[in-house]
Amino acid sequence: MAVDPPSLLNDLWYFALSGAGLKRGKFVPRMIMDEPMLIGRDADGQVFALSDVCPHRGMPLSEGRFDGREVECCYHGWRFDRGGRCTAIPWLVDGSEIEVSRIKVRRFPAREHLGNVWVYVGDPDKAEDSLPELPPLPAIGVAAPNLSVEMNFDCHVDQAVIGLMDPAHGPFVHSAWWWRPNREMQVKEKEFEPAPFGFRMKRHKPASNSRAYYLFLGGQPETEITFRLPGVRVEHVHAGRYDVVQMTAVTPIDEKTTRINHQIYWTVPWLNALKPFLLHIAYRFIDQDRVIVAKQQRGLKHQQPMLLVRDADTLARWYFRLKKEFAAAAAEGRAFVNPVEATVLRWRS
Ligand code: FES
Ligand SMILES: [Fe+2]
Repeated sequence: MAVDPPSLLNDLWYFALSGAGLKRGKFVPRMIMDEPMLIGRDADGQVFALSDVCPHRGMPLSEGRFDGREVECCYHGWRFDRGGRCTAIPWLVDGSEIEVSRIKVRRFPAREHLGNVWVYVGDPDKAEDSLPELPPLPAIGVAAPNLSVEMNFDCHVDQAVIGLMDPAHGPFVHSAWWWRPNREMQVKEKEFEPAPFGFRMKRHKPASNSRAYYLFLGGQPETEITFRLPGVRVEHVHAGRYDVVQMTAVTPIDEKTTRINHQIYWTVPWLNALKPFLLHIAYRFIDQDRVIVAKQQRGLKHQQPMLLVRDADTLARWYFRLKKEFAAAAAEGRAFVNPVEATVLRWRS
């Protein structure tokens, strides 16, 4: 059965926010997958996520208060626990027939891992222990990201994903004195293989014109890059005794806006001193992607679909095939069969 994948994929974990931005006893409103959510951290430090819409009369719950145990709606004071169950309706008189505990606000499974909060957007009745694994991050002994950049792109999630993983735009979009000067282009040849819900660029030595790696790590670095649905790219650079892990999580805010969270973890002690500089570079790099994708949207309104050719566009083609297969497997109630085949891709960049 051929299925058109939905524009936004359900039944997956989405990056919600960096855990450092969520203090105990606080919540923040976040729009994820066109769902207004309230992401909170209770008095014990556990994270949770609820729909940010009061089931009574639709007030955003994030306009109300949270005491570390229960969220109180600002309109009529209904209270909800972290599992979304209503615990109190202040106006109730003794003997009322309203069954408070049957009133619920939608709950989204939420978990925190290596300093990030993820929410599961999908069937809320799925048992928590049967949920899929979180997108894996290699553990390098660092509990939380050393650096985080967040930015919104004015485009659909698909455009953000394929724009960020596009291997051919570097010399044109990201050229700077510290990164591939003079648009010198070299032939790249990389081995790819399927990985859970995505693909992996096998461990390799980065091209000699990627000067930044040498600049920051010294020694002979080795890189492995993994992509996984819905839109999580993880790059692990290992050099000598050092590790640097970069994660880019692409999360739909709605159909037309997408949030990019780029984070870097490192074990290189002296990188801490360079943090302001690295933050500047990371911000500028992602902003270049934001600007180019925004310009692209002007043209795309007049030419759909895109002409994705072979070689350097293969990753984008894989992304769409992964999405399609994910939707088909869900619709047919069968296991996901990874459509990516191991191959060597060659391009110039
Ligand atoms: S709208 Fe929330 S309590 Fe009335
Ligand atoms: Fe880019």
